[in-house]
Amino acid sequence: MIHPDIESILISTEEIDSIVTRLAAEIDRDYAGDDKNLVLVCILKGSVVFMGDLMKKITVPVQIDFMKASSYGSGTTSSGNINILLDLKRKDIADCDILIVEDIIDSGNTLNFLIDHLMRKGARSVKTVTLLDKPSRRAPHLKDFNPDYHGAIIDDVFAVGFGLDYNEKYRALPYIGILKPEVYHTEQ
Ligand code: IMP
Ligand code: MG
Repeated sequence: MIHPDIESILISTEEIDSIVTRLAAEIDRDYAGDDKNLVLVCILKGSVVFMGDLMKKITVPVQIDFMKASSYGSGTTSSGNINILLDLKRKDIADCDILIVEDIIDSGNTLNFLIDHLMRKGARSVKTVTLLDKPSRRAPHLKDFNPDYHGAIIDDVFAVGFGLDYNEKYRALPYIGILKPEVYHTEQ
């Protein structure tokens, strides 16, 4: 049963599963070896469902950690102003190969800021994996910004489900869907 506020399913549960399987295989290949210390950093809250699935499919040794950054307060437009609400508090950051796990890239501001922040903190390496990407929405100064691992590229639509929210709702949907326009028109 599709949720009544969802207009259509953009990526089904089965499609997400095969995307995550592919991403885990790519990550396994790149982080194999005793010289690697893979730390997945989940960007709360949107990436929590993706992170949970991804970490189960990765077979190389992996640690997990969490950060929170402000992006959208509410509504569907990006602010461009990034604040770190929960920072990484690891003493061993110089020995960490960090892989930032993001739900979706829109303007690119959040991820670009976080990569810079973690490099400044002294991480040995910082890479990024995103489930979804909307390259047509990149900020002008980030036109060439791309993640290291890509789930699916989507058009300029507002996606919810599988961790992604609209005003904190729909995160628990097991698929990625597009909201009916009347849902956000009546709520704003
Ligand atoms: P950026 O900084 O503009 O790249 O925005 C990235 C963040 O905005 C993501 O981590 C999401 O939290 C949020 N976001 C961007 N697009 C969507 C969307 O279509 N649905 C839900 N959240 C979104
Ligand atoms: Mg997010």
